[in-house]
Amino acid sequence: MAEGFNHSSCEAFEYKLVLHRDFHLISGIHSPEVVDQIHNFEIQDSDVFVITYPKSGTIWLQQILCLIEVKGDATAINDQLNSDRIPWMELLKSEKQFVSAPSPRIHVSHLPYRFMPLGLKQKKGKVIYVARNPKDVLVSYFHFHNFANMLETPKDFEDFFEKFMDGYVFGNCWFEHIKGWCSQSDEMNFLYITYEEMIKDLRSVVERIVSFLGTNLTPQQLNDVVEHSTFKNMKTNPQANYQHVPALLLNHQLGAFLRKGTVGDWKNYFTVAQNERFDEVYQEKMKDFPLSFVWDMS
Ligand code: A3P
Repeated sequence: MAEGFNHSSCEAFEYKLVLHRDFHLISGIHSPEVVDQIHNFEIQDSDVFVITYPKSGTIWLQQILCLIEVKGDATAINDQLNSDRIPWMELLKSEKQFVSAPSPRIHVSHLPYRFMPLGLKQKKGKVIYVARNPKDVLVSYFHFHNFANMLETPKDFEDFFEKFMDGYVFGNCWFEHIKGWCSQSDEMNFLYITYEEMIKDLRSVVERIVSFLGTNLTPQQLNDVVEHSTFKNMKTNPQANYQHVPALLLNHQLGAFLRKGTVGDWKNYFTVAQNERFDEVYQEKMKDFPLSFVWDMS
């Protein structure tokens, strides 16, 4: 979602959702050509792909993985933005970046499974899928639409609720995104984590990530990774908090990437009727879903 965010020379552009092979991209931000090439990218065992539906904690994983790389030494990464260190795959001009990046190449993406490199199915590379309670995703995304200039400002919460349920947003339908990825998890080197687990016990999730990546950290290094990845510390860290994104793309007066960082904010927004409808759709769409969630959907 953050592509092109680093370009201080962004020119005014009419950003809009465009349908590309049944998936909504944002014109001027994403490249349909790059998206079509990703399928054939040659991948290496050391490649890591962080996959999220928007507003599930992508920026958080960028910080954690940057820190794991430098064994928790935050001073070693304060010369570069996290979004440059761990870039987006679907952004304009990202193909060259992918091919030429030094190993281990770590990328983030919101794309559905069907667009991703074929090599993943041969268990090349590693995938970390981060899921979040879709009700909190919806609320976070609503706020993001209110301050992101490249996204249409919703009339009100009800208007955005309908768009989200219809999948008329970048990322499309939340249910299809998670099902598309997780239904193929056995074919890939795949780690599934949730935002809620990270809120509850960040250290143990970082431990799982470290072990999945085959890295070793001392207890102190692990503590450092966790300490520098808290909401409070990321909020004041310019490398990590996306405050560098030009005002043309994000109106920083109206909101922040690191907005609230909590679980259950949906309860402050959903009406009883919206909640019932959401639960009904959720039960129907997720009935055959193989993985369990740690959040309480009620
Ligand atoms: P909220 O809007 O609910 O606060 P993404 O990077 O995928 O767009 O996700 C952004 C969401 O992740 C925002 O949610 C943001 O606050 C939250 N987030 C990012 N870093 C976090 C952290 N260290 N702790 C808790 N939440 C974090």
